[in-house]
Amino acid sequence: MNEKYKELFSTYTLPNGVELKNRIVIAPMTHYSSNPDGTVSEDELNYYARRSHGVSMVITACTNVIANGKGFPGQFAANRDEMIPGLSRVASAIKDQGAKAVLQIYHGGRMSPPELVPNGDIYSASAVPAERPGMQTPKALTEDQIEEIIEAFGETTRRAIEAGFDGVEIHGANGYLLQQFFSPHSNRREDRYGGSLEKRMTFPLAIIDKVKSVVAEHAKSPFIVGYRFSPEEPETPGITMADTLAFVDVLADKGLDYLHVSLGEFHSTPRVGVEDLSKSRIEYLLETINHRVPLIGVGSIKTAEDARKALETGVAFVALGREIIVDPDWVQKVEEGRENEIATVLYPDQQEELVVPTGLWKRIMSVKGWFPVQER
Ligand SMILES: Cc1cc2nc3c(=O)[nH]c(=O)nc-3n(C[C@H](O)[C@H](O)[C@H](O)COP(=O)(O)O)c2cc1C
Repeated sequence: MNEKYKELFSTYTLPNGVELKNRIVIAPMTHYSSNPDGTVSEDELNYYARRSHGVSMVITACTNVIANGKGFPGQFAANRDEMIPGLSRVASAIKDQGAKAVLQIYHGGRMSPPELVPNGDIYSASAVPAERPGMQTPKALTEDQIEEIIEAFGETTRRAIEAGFDGVEIHGANGYLLQQFFSPHSNRREDRYGGSLEKRMTFPLAIIDKVKSVVAEHAKSPFIVGYRFSPEEPETPGITMADTLAFVDVLADKGLDYLHVSLGEFHSTPRVGVEDLSKSRIEYLLETINHRVPLIGVGSIKTAEDARKALETGVAFVALGREIIVDPDWVQKVEEGRENEIATVLYPDQQEELVVPTGLWKRIMSVKGWFPVQER
């Protein structure tokens, strides 16, 4: 291994005592390839097994905790006990390769396509549609329904424990239900779940408390609980960097094992809400967190040099998303001093070679500019 990449391969012990073997993790990525009933398909298992052998931790695609939280066709579900055997196979596919397996748990809220949820009813904090063409106006959740969803996050955590996962990541990012409660765009409530910045934190914090209580009750060994968030929203009103720093200040004292910021570009800078718009979001977050909890950073990391520079900022882990699809042997190549051999483009004939499920491959090929696709 090239000496300058040594730090990427240093171990890290999470607050709960679980040791991760290096600083590279796989970012959660939906693969659109589960069976229509929400059970896991062979293609997904093969996909995980193919790319879990070098990284220290794999965060799975998001899985819905309740039927009305389904957000993607071909999404795997974790909302019923009969899903546990399939979930167990996902956990094993990852753990057999020597990585920790973390299940990302979520509810799509107003982003759920009506055709995927019971009666076509989509829900959010308030009856405000997302600012995208063709989005349906969601129904505002009642307090009873909110309680039911909080309970469902707890039940899904129990299933993750029973299925043999090493942890769960609570998906509070990318515009889904938890973020919809924190956002002043989608949360116009006047009850205890909305009305002020602090009250908009109530729902995500209640989910964290529920998940942690289930872990305390059911886990027989240390179980990882992480939380993912998006730092800003483009809408007005929308989450600002200042809102996020206030939230992160609270999250950092919640006894979580990590925080995970969702970014398209690792070194991106804030839009609004803070004084110095030239300082990166990661720098702001690390300053606020002040070593209270490890932070995972992500966003357009392709080369070993990209990862080294990212780790140098002070994050505990660097997550690879698209790049680990493009090159499943990324970690081995760096470990063996072959970082020059890392592939950074995809060719349309590589689906089988890269072990990518068909649903995901079709998306990759059809969404222009998303992945670095080249013709031979
Ligand atoms: C195919 C695909 C599916 C994704 N699905 C999820 C998901 O299920 N949950 C999530 O939090 N983020 C999801 N993301 C976002 C990634 O986790 C990551 O934050 C983003 O791709 C930026 O990292 P990258 O530049 O390394 O790809 C997805 C991204 C891609 C490319």
